[in-house]
Amino acid sequence: MKIQVGIITVSDRASAGQYEDFGGPLVAEAADGYGWLVVAETVVPDDKEQIQRAIREQIAKGAHLILTTGGTGVAPRDMTPEAVKEIADRELPGFGEVMRMESMKITKNAILSRNMAAAVGNSLVICLPGKPKGAVECLGFVVGAIPHCVEVVAGVPTSC
Ligand code: MTE
Repeated sequence: MKIQVGIITVSDRASAGQYEDFGGPLVAEAADGYGWLVVAETVVPDDKEQIQRAIREQIAKGAHLILTTGGTGVAPRDMTPEAVKEIADRELPGFGEVMRMESMKITKNAILSRNMAAAVGNSLVICLPGKPKGAVECLGFVVGAIPHCVEVVAGVPTSC
């Protein structure tokens, strides 16, 4: 199964053009490196409805996997986890647990990320931290489980 990927950068400042989005392109480069096909890239502000709309639009474009970057912390406008949980069918806590534990070996601030993963319909959504290096690091920590998880969530018959 060729995994089709949507990427969503969640950032007030990047969506307002106040600074360049480096996270999205870096995550896209990592996805390409894993042999996945990037079918959509979107930049949205830290706004629940716009995050949810972007996820739905990317699912409609055929994204099996949606990677968000940003808004997982505890700043007043950080709301990516809440936006995803509101439309999620099931949360997959293991992804956040591993991303935080592995990230602790790099930065003690890893605890500040509420990064997570959930099934939204037949797509897997993974919320990565906003720092570009951190987003790629966290993706790398859980990449081993992504192909099988995407197939199971998509309803593709697989043998565990
Ligand atoms: N995880 C990794 N692997 N690398 C990082 O640089 N940054 C931390 C944390 N997790 C980081 C990380 C910091 S400083 C914050 S504030 C939280 O992610 C949340 O970041 P976000 O609000 O940009 O999503």
